[in-house]
Amino acid sequence: MKAKKALSLFMTAVLAAAMLTGCGGGRGTEETSQTTDTPAAVEETAETGNTQDTETAEPAETEEEAGTASSGGGIVGVALPWLGTQNWAEAEVMFKEQLEAAGYEAIIQAADQKVPQQQQQIESMIENGAQVIVVGPVDGSQLGSVLEKAKDAGVYVIGYDRLLENTSGVDGIVQFGRVKTGELQAQALLQGLEELKGEAPYNIELFGGGPADPNAPNFFTGAMSVLQPLIDDGTLVVVSGQTDFTQCATVDWDNSKAQSRMDAILAGNYSDIEIDGVLSPNDGIARAIITSCENAGQPIPVVSGLDAENESVEWVWSGRQYSTVAKPTNALVAETVSIIDSLLSGNGMPATEVTANNGVIDVPVYELPPVVVTKDNAKEVFADDPDRLALLTD
Ligand code: BGC
Repeated sequence: MKAKKALSLFMTAVLAAAMLTGCGGGRGTEETSQTTDTPAAVEETAETGNTQDTETAEPAETEEEAGTASSGGGIVGVALPWLGTQNWAEAEVMFKEQLEAAGYEAIIQAADQKVPQQQQQIESMIENGAQVIVVGPVDGSQLGSVLEKAKDAGVYVIGYDRLLENTSGVDGIVQFGRVKTGELQAQALLQGLEELKGEAPYNIELFGGGPADPNAPNFFTGAMSVLQPLIDDGTLVVVSGQTDFTQCATVDWDNSKAQSRMDAILAGNYSDIEIDGVLSPNDGIARAIITSCENAGQPIPVVSGLDAENESVEWVWSGRQYSTVAKPTNALVAETVSIIDSLLSGNGMPATEVTANNGVIDVPVYELPPVVVTKDNAKEVFADDPDRLALLTD
């Protein structure tokens, strides 16, 4: 069995209990929990193209040698970036519910957008014997050394919702299609402009998310793949001239920063013209943009969004926000828990065709489809979501 660093007394006790009860361990014990007659899991993980496949593909010890057979149970850490948008607040609750229902002990922490705080939280999860750590990074590129530490300690690391960049200490990423999300936002913006704002050309502005979040430039890239040709042919006019991600980004996804930027853009460029539409990377920023336009006496522009936050679902229903994109947290958490089940029962990472290069390795990506929501399809999209469905009342 692979030696684990920082083996606390607590961890020793956990391992001893695992030996007695037959609970599966982390990466180290997972390798050994393969019995010689189950080569399928090894083949399956070898297809993912992850450089860490060599670890799972090592010849398995017998069950006798390992002293453990695969079964449920184990400690799972979940490190979230903050709780400032509904999706992360939901993730905190849903991970606890779903992990406990699956028989795991959950250690769940949020980092208030602070990288050192998140590094410390992950360290303490390693020290407390987590066999899998799920990470939604504050900054996708700042966790390299702590994730390497996790890897050396035999802990599996799964990126949740956001990529983990520039590190080999990641086994897979679970997320909604990040480029697709941006494409959907831009397509909805165009659809709304055609529906509500007459003939082109249309005056628009562009907003991006937090630059430390690897999703933000990807959302923006997806959106610009749809919008740029129409900016080039004059259908869309970005009146401020601000079209680079760096100009459009919103530090820390902070709604008030987005509102101040919108205020300044309106004051500087729209004193005698109307704004028709705004690309917004999520719902909180969408509401800030709409509020800014209302305060400036502008007619409400067509604004995109993301997350299907309750307040924005109400705004979409009442016509105040044109669209959002649903990426149901319960589905993403369920997908993550099923990967944890696979890992901790000794079956390795499930196969996937999709990978993302994180600067160091090609990371297996488990992708769910985001769905655009407008007033027209809201009832359909939320048919199985009674909480959101209940918001769609006249
Ligand atoms: C998530 C969004 C969220 C944003 C700000 C992104 O990484 O994908 O759902 O709105 O972070 O929290």
